[in-house]
Amino acid sequence: MRITVVGAGYVGLVTGACFSHLGNEVLVVEKVKEKVDLLKEGKSPFYEPGLEELIREGIKRGTLYFTTDLGEGVKFSEVIFICVGTPSLPDGSADLSQVEEVARLTAKEMDSYRLIVEKSTVPVNTHQLVKKTVQRYLKKSIPFDVASNPEFLREGSAVKDFLEPDRIVVGVESEKAKRILEEIYRPFTEKGVPLLITDPATAELIKHASNSFLAMKISFINMVADLCEKTGADVKLVAEGMGYDKRIGREFLNAGIGYGGSCFPKDVKAFIRIAEEYGVDFSLLKEVERINRRRVERFLDKVRSALWTLKDKKVAVWGLSFKPNTDDIREAPSIKVVEALLKEGAFVRAYDPKAAGNFRRIFPEGERIRYVPDKYEAVKGAEALLILTEWGEFAEADLGKVKELMELPIVIDGRNVFDPEDMRRRGFEYYSMGRP
Ligand SMILES: NC(=O)c1ccc[n+]([C@@H]2O[C@H](COP(=O)([O-])OP(=O)(O)OC[C@H]3O[C@@H](n4cnc5c(N)ncnc54)[C@H](O)[C@@H]3O)[C@@H](O)[C@H]2O)c1
Repeated sequence: MRITVVGAGYVGLVTGACFSHLGNEVLVVEKVKEKVDLLKEGKSPFYEPGLEELIREGIKRGTLYFTTDLGEGVKFSEVIFICVGTPSLPDGSADLSQVEEVARLTAKEMDSYRLIVEKSTVPVNTHQLVKKTVQRYLKKSIPFDVASNPEFLREGSAVKDFLEPDRIVVGVESEKAKRILEEIYRPFTEKGVPLLITDPATAELIKHASNSFLAMKISFINMVADLCEKTGADVKLVAEGMGYDKRIGREFLNAGIGYGGSCFPKDVKAFIRIAEEYGVDFSLLKEVERINRRRVERFLDKVRSALWTLKDKKVAVWGLSFKPNTDDIREAPSIKVVEALLKEGAFVRAYDPKAAGNFRRIFPEGERIRYVPDKYEAVKGAEALLILTEWGEFAEADLGKVKELMELPIVIDGRNVFDPEDMRRRGFEYYSMGRP
């Protein structure tokens, strides 16, 4: 099939590259010219495992194209997937201006039936606004449908998540829209992936409810971690014990410095706001947010109590991205941690396998903060090592070498990467989250 994808971010680019990989012809529309120029050369504007390979494959096979021209995109295909950003407004609600813009411009360019699919995460009943907008800007009477098809991929494993989803959710209002989306997702359903067909409002709500539920799991285990610290219990084992229960599951029960990224913080906020607009006080989620906000402060308290004062202390930081295997630092807890370290006068030497470039834009390199290309270089002469992201290579680090290089062997682990007993045996002063 021919498919148009609007927005070449984490979701749009993965969607476009994967649909092309599955044998469709895909045109990705992206308004930032520099990104399109990079993509045409087969380069991804951000790091995502396996993505660049699929982009190159699509270009080589002639099934994946890029443009800055939405008009071209609207002409290219009957189906248009909207994958633009929906960031938070200051009041917590979702900023839907990018979605509105695509709906409006699509209406102006359409000359026959189009199916407009919201893949961006949007509040319940946004499809009504998209419909109204398209209707308003259509030059003549042209049939169209609006559908919701929320995306559940995770950065860091986005390609795999897209190609092997737990489920596909499609919210439609017409038989035609249903048929088109069933056809697009046939390669998945043939392999047994469940396809849940709902109305658009339900599909929109499923996405906000799913992300909010996962955020809630994280805040829940973080409170359990606090209780573990007071009682001498071990939160990792508590999570394991809970996780064997199929009704609970082990995933998203990792205690630490809290959730970040471009989705959970904004989606929880937007879900609270949209519930409020409909007169529902989702107080449970307000508490989820409050718990999450406190995590960085709790971690910093550990740092301060280990080092007494931070002024002129040499602090190594491992991990800047909001989670492993991505260069995305949007809403990463590391931003708040580094901000506090610098404010309190520490010298920071930071290492991240992929995210240092993005971090540098917020905290430019200078006397107080340096970015190094190697984790061992970061700990050279350090009086403490702070672990802020659980990149796989940290767990495999040569701890003997780390200890030798550090001035003081103090490790404050915000992601519970190491075993406390083992660290003590090796002579480290080791602090982690929710473990004795
Ligand atoms: N990132 C994730 O892990 C993830 C997962 C599931 C759902 N989502 C949702 O998907 C949506 C997109 O997220 P993202 O992380 O890919 O965002 P992003 O910011 O990485 O990408 C959005 C892209 O859309 C482009 N864009 C904006 N307006 C445009 C227009 N009029 N024409 C063409 N391009 C335009 C932007 O330039 C940008 O490159 C959001 O609603 C997000 O909540 C994200």
